[in-house]
Amino acid sequence: MGYQAYIRSFADHDGDGMGDLRGIVDKVDYLAWLGVDAVWINPFFPSPGHDHGYDVSDYVDVDPQHGTLADFDELISATRKVGIRVIVDIVPNHTSNEHAWFTAAVADPTGPFRDFYIWKPPAADGGPPNNWVSHFGGPAWTFEPVSGEYYCHLFLPEQPDLNWQNPAVADAFDTALRFWLDRGAAGFRIDVAHGCHKDPLFRDNPQLRTVTPNMSPRAVFDSFDHRFDLDQDTNIEVFRRWNQVVEPYGAVLIGELGAEDAERAARYVADGDALHQLFYLRSTWLEWEPAEWKTSIESLQAIAPGGVSWVLSCHDRPRPATRFGRGVDDQRAISRSLALSTLAMVLGGMPFVYQGEELGLPDGNVDPNSVTDPLAARFSQWAGEGRDGCRTPMPWDSTPNNGFTRGEPWLKSAPRPAELTVESQRDDPESTIHRYRDLLAFRHKTPQLCEGQARVLDLGPSVIAIERPHCLAITNLATEAFSVDLSTLTLPGGPWHQSFSSKNGVLEAKNDSFSEVAAESTSIYLNGAPS
Ligand code: BGC
Repeated sequence: MGYQAYIRSFADHDGDGMGDLRGIVDKVDYLAWLGVDAVWINPFFPSPGHDHGYDVSDYVDVDPQHGTLADFDELISATRKVGIRVIVDIVPNHTSNEHAWFTAAVADPTGPFRDFYIWKPPAADGGPPNNWVSHFGGPAWTFEPVSGEYYCHLFLPEQPDLNWQNPAVADAFDTALRFWLDRGAAGFRIDVAHGCHKDPLFRDNPQLRTVTPNMSPRAVFDSFDHRFDLDQDTNIEVFRRWNQVVEPYGAVLIGELGAEDAERAARYVADGDALHQLFYLRSTWLEWEPAEWKTSIESLQAIAPGGVSWVLSCHDRPRPATRFGRGVDDQRAISRSLALSTLAMVLGGMPFVYQGEELGLPDGNVDPNSVTDPLAARFSQWAGEGRDGCRTPMPWDSTPNNGFTRGEPWLKSAPRPAELTVESQRDDPESTIHRYRDLLAFRHKTPQLCEGQARVLDLGPSVIAIERPHCLAITNLATEAFSVDLSTLTLPGGPWHQSFSSKNGVLEAKNDSFSEVAAESTSIYLNGAPS
């Protein structure tokens, strides 16, 4: 199991209110106790911070607010001692507008860095060159008065998109990847992996519906078919090249993939010579929608078996305890998350939990005057689309600022109650954190969960069933228990015994062909002699 540490909010070692690399070093024992195998750290490179680190101004250094290169080395050494790998978050679609490449590109339109970015003359009416819109609102083009050209940015104007048609860009990224690999990174989470290449003709995206002035940036974005700005076939070539770079290090490439279409997403991992795993973003958008979950998991399992790093949440979307909790009590929302996290253990890829998911944490409460996310801060009328709620500091204990910092936290939020802190849950064997810890321990001692080929079984509209030669997982998404007679299923192995349930953890092994999977839960069965 992987663990996402959102560095800004994970742990602050030096007391300046901002999470840092040494804060993660301080918590390595915690990660080892929980049983994680790898930690993905959000960008910690120098950045002006317009998009909280996703506007990188130097790919081969550490932002002073997050520490130093020596701190990174210390993190590598501390994690190696406990067998945890470090995954670095790399951002190839765009840089910061303060990156030296971009400032040189603006200062010297005939110089070598101009072509690192995407420049186009204005359209005939003087407006943007085409109809592309930014994820964060407004056109995906900003006019640069000195040269009289527009530059492309799929996110903020402060995040100009790189030109991946330019071989010098690819060379620069090879260098950055090797820099972190040589320092001990075990792989990369690739930001907006579906973004790098653009249509060579820069054609208008087909418009799906009329855009009106009162639409949110997300609604405007969704009003277009993004066939020309995203997910170009040539993107895969970028990751074929990266695959060659990381291969000698045995490192892994996990791409953030926004492609809605499972077939298209699967192409990035299909031949094993580009990305190794996908973060398939749809799973962070879904609420508790059983039919949607069933389709998403089954279709990707059929097309890209083992190719998905399943995630229920990340720093961009409401947490599962919030998304799955609408209209039901907190415990039920947590049970739903645990059901899906347990199923993820047999799907073949390395699932990730986002910091705080192991506590069953809902989104934090951020005062509207304290919002910092550009989505909310720049469009106050769309504050609800902001991502601050899922980014509030990790609650370690019940001291001030829940033990995250002894300074003023960078993001102010309401204190968390004691029962949602690591300190109190560690002491309570019935708590959510122990459910996750038990699940991770079960996965470690049960290699059968990933062995052999996985097959999707059809056991009904509200049930997801995945069978491997020596294990069977049944997720019941319905509100009533699901009864199954294992002897009637055409499964090769047997006898089967229920070994784990997302409701009760590890179970005492007993052979019984009849089983009941509780509502909104997952049961895992093993065959052969109980161990
Ligand atoms: C990251 C976001 C970021 C965006 C632009 C994403 O998908 O996860 O946090 O704002 O890329 O870099």
